[in-house]
Order: sequence, then C-alpha cells, then structure tokens
Amino acid sequence: MPKLAVYPGSFDPFTLGHLDISKRAAETFDSLTIVVVHNPGKTSMLSLQERAEAIRAAFGELPQNICVDVLETGLLANYCTKIGASVIVKGIRSNNDVDYEFPMARVNRDISGIETLMLPASGEYAHISSTLVRQVFELGGDASAYLPAAVAKIVKAKLAK
Ligand code: PNS
Repeated sequence: MPKLAVYPGSFDPFTLGHLDISKRAAETFDSLTIVVVHNPGKTSMLSLQERAEAIRAAFGELPQNICVDVLETGLLANYCTKIGASVIVKGIRSNNDVDYEFPMARVNRDISGIETLMLPASGEYAHISSTLVRQVFELGGDASAYLPAAVAKIVKAKLAK
C-alpha cells in the first residue's frame, strides 16, 4: 500500500527550509501533500491561496509525488484520514520546535492514530522562520535570501500593492 504523508504548516511564506524538508520527505514517502493550514494564532501576510500558489511556484514544476492543498478549517488529523495519509511530517530547527511539536504530535496520535515524523532542519536553514521573514519584509527590509526566488517575487508583489 502506498505510504502517503502530509506536510502541514502556515507557510506564510514558504521558505528555503520548508522546501528542503518537502524534498527530503518526498524522497521518504510514496507521496507527499503539502497542506497550507490556517493558524488563528498567527497574523497573516499572504492569503491561504496565495501561499499555496507560492509553494507550487517554488518547485517550478511540481514533482509527480508532491501535491499542494489548503485546509481552511477543521482538524488536521481528520484531513489526513480523509486523504488516506498515515504520517504527518514536521521540520525541527531547535528544542523550541520540539517543545511546540510534541504536544501536537501526541494529540494527533491520540485522536486518530496518525504518527508524526520530525525531520531535523538542514544546518544552513535552521535559523530561518516565516515569522522572521514576514517581520523583515513588513519593516521594509529584504528577506529574499531565505526564500525560493519565485516565492520572494510573490511576496514582493503582494507588499507592493
Ligand atoms: O506552521 P505552523 O503555524 O506552526 O503550523 C501549525 C499547524 C497549522 C500545522 C497546526 O496549528 C495545526 O495542525 N492546525 C490545524 C488544526 C488542528 O488540527 N489542531 C489540533 C492540533 S493537535
């Protein structure tokens, strides 16, 4: 049976670190769905659809085993069950991420049996976060170096509006 994984996140915006985790996860599973999820705890820069579009653009051409989706509302665990995914993938940059992810991983397993696989961020991306990228851009700086070129273009176009 093909092993399907889901890589969820706010991805506002999708960084080089996210791209790295996506590619590594896609090599590990038969198929990977990158799902843009609304996180009410965070202020947003791009709409959910713009983020999904930026992720597709980041790859240029999406690999055959990767697709991109949006989850506007509802439990991630239910979404995973609906599409037949058995693993949630998360990228881990530091102990802070472990503290943040462990409770979610446990709750997701409690409510649906789904496992969470945590991949360590590659060293060169371990300091990158969407939150910092947003902050730099919104305060007039340029954080393009942390983003796939196509994502940087979308962010700049949005902020110029
Ligand atoms: O990139 P983020 O903002 O850290 O991603 C967190 C996210 C969106 C993956 C998480 O908040 C989530 O899974 N939200 C969906 C709602 C849900 O299932 N909540 C229960 C989590 S145990």
